[in-house]
Amino acid sequence: MVSIILGGQWGDEGKGKIVDVLAKDADIIVRPQGGANAGHTININGIQTVLHLIPSGIFYPHTKNVIGNGVVVDLLALKSEIDVLNAQGINFKDRLYISDKAHMIFPWHRIIDALHHKGKIGTTGRGIGPAYADKVNRVGIRFCDYPHEFAEKFDVQYTAAINVMRQFTLIEIQKLLEQMYQGDENFLRFYSENYLDKELIFAECTAILDSIQQYICNTFPLFNEAIVTGKKIVLEGAQGTFLDIDHGTYPFVTSSNTTAGGACTGSGIAPIHISEVYGIFKAYTTRVGTGPFPTELINVTGEKIRETGHEYGATTKRPRRCGWFDAVLARHSVFLNGMTHITITKLDVLDDFEEIQICVGYYYDGKITQEFPSNSVTLEKIKPLYITMSGWKSSTTQCKSFEELPIKAQEYVKMIEKTVQFPVSMISVGPEREQTFIL
Ligand code: GDP
Ligand code: IMO
Ligand code: MG
Repeated sequence: MVSIILGGQWGDEGKGKIVDVLAKDADIIVRPQGGANAGHTININGIQTVLHLIPSGIFYPHTKNVIGNGVVVDLLALKSEIDVLNAQGINFKDRLYISDKAHMIFPWHRIIDALHHKGKIGTTGRGIGPAYADKVNRVGIRFCDYPHEFAEKFDVQYTAAINVMRQFTLIEIQKLLEQMYQGDENFLRFYSENYLDKELIFAECTAILDSIQQYICNTFPLFNEAIVTGKKIVLEGAQGTFLDIDHGTYPFVTSSNTTAGGACTGSGIAPIHISEVYGIFKAYTTRVGTGPFPTELINVTGEKIRETGHEYGATTKRPRRCGWFDAVLARHSVFLNGMTHITITKLDVLDDFEEIQICVGYYYDGKITQEFPSNSVTLEKIKPLYITMSGWKSSTTQCKSFEELPIKAQEYVKMIEKTVQFPVSMISVGPEREQTFIL
C-alpha cells in the first residue's frame, strides 16, 4: 500500500510531524521531490530535529528511508544532516537509500540562486531552481555519474557557473551573497573575491560521495519488491500545493511538482499503486517568500498567529506571513491532488482568539468566485469574502478526540469541512507525536 502525504497550502503545514506519526506503521518512507529547501520538524519527547533531505521516518528503527530520483541533493547539506543524526544515535546502515538517478546540488547552484532569484521570488537560497534548471537542460549531474563521468560533467557545470557570475559585478555578487548567506560560513568558504574554489569543492564533494557510496542504489527493485509483498510505503511530499511549478502561484513557486503526480514521478512508483493521498493543512494559512496570499493579515492578528504558532522558517528562520484559513484554496487543493484524507494541524494555535475567520469566496472584478485563478496578478487583486466564527478561548493541547475539543473548536472544524466540502480525518493540537488524533 502506498500513501502520499503532501502540503495543501504553501508549505510548512506540519508534514514532517504527520509523516513521523504515520511512519510508525510504515516500512519505507520516500522523499520524492524538492531538496534542502524543505525543513520538516519532528518533536519527540521534547527534542526537536529539523530534517531537510532525510525522510521523516528515520526515527523509527524499523523503517527504510529513501531519497528519491526527483530530489536535488546538496552534498554538503546531506553530509551535515547525516552527521547531526549520527550524533543522535541514528543508524543508517540498510536504512538510508539514495536513488542513483537523483541530481546533485553544488555551491555554484546556491550562488546562481542568489544572483537570479533572491529578490523576486524570495527563495530559500538552497540552489533549488538552478539545479532543476540544469536537470531539465540535460546538464545535471546524477549520483550514477559518479565516478565515471563525474569529473568531466563537474568541469562543464563549473565553467557554466563562472560564466553566469561574470555577468555580475564583484560588488553585486558580494552584496547578494551577504544578504542571503550571512553567517553560512560552511558555504561561503568556497567563494572569495569572485573566485569559486573549484579544487576545494571537487575534493570535498568527492570525499562525501565516497563516504555515502553504500547508500546510493537503483531504487526500482526496492519499491518493486515492497509493492509485490504488500509493504507500506509513505511518499513524503515537500513544500506545498501552491508552490508547485505547474499548479502553484507561478512564478512565485518552487521548481518541482509538489502535487500528487510529482510524488509518482519523483519516486518511480506508478499512480495505480497509490491508495491514499493525505493533504496536510494548517488551521490557518502561512507563506514564506513573495507572491500573492489572499487571506494574509498584515496586522496584530497576523502577528499574534506568528508568535503563537512560532511561525519562523525551519530552514531560513524567516518570519512566515500569516493569515486566515482559505477554503477556496483548500477545496482546489483537495481536488487537484485527489486527496482521500485531510489533516488539520496547529488547531491549538487558535486557542486564544475572540474571533476566527474562514475565507469562503474571492471577490474580484465586481463578482464573487469560488475559482482559484491561474494568474498571480489576478490573485493579488482579489478580496477575500469571510465568514466569522467565535473563538473557543480554551486550550486544546491535551485533547485526545474530537469530542474532547471545546464545542466552538468542533464547530470550527465542522465549518472547515463544510466550506472545503471534504471530511477532516485527523487533527493535530501540538508538535508532539501524541498530540494527534483520528476522527
Ligand atoms: P513541514 O515543512 O510541513 O514539515 O512543517 P515545518 O516543520 O516547517 O513547520 C511546522 C511547525 O509546526 C514545526 O515547528 C512543528 O513542530 C510545528 N507543529 C506541527 N504540528 C503542530 C501542531 O499541531 N501544533 C503546534 N503548536 N505546532 C505544530
Ligand atoms: P517545506 O517542505 C515553505 C518557498 C520559498 C520561496 C519559494 C521558492 O518545509 O514545507 P526555492 O528555494 O524552493 O526555490 O524557493 O518556495 N519554499 C518553501 N516555503 N516551505 C517549504 O518547504 C519551502 N520550500 C520552498 O520560501 O517562496
Ligand atoms: Mg517546513
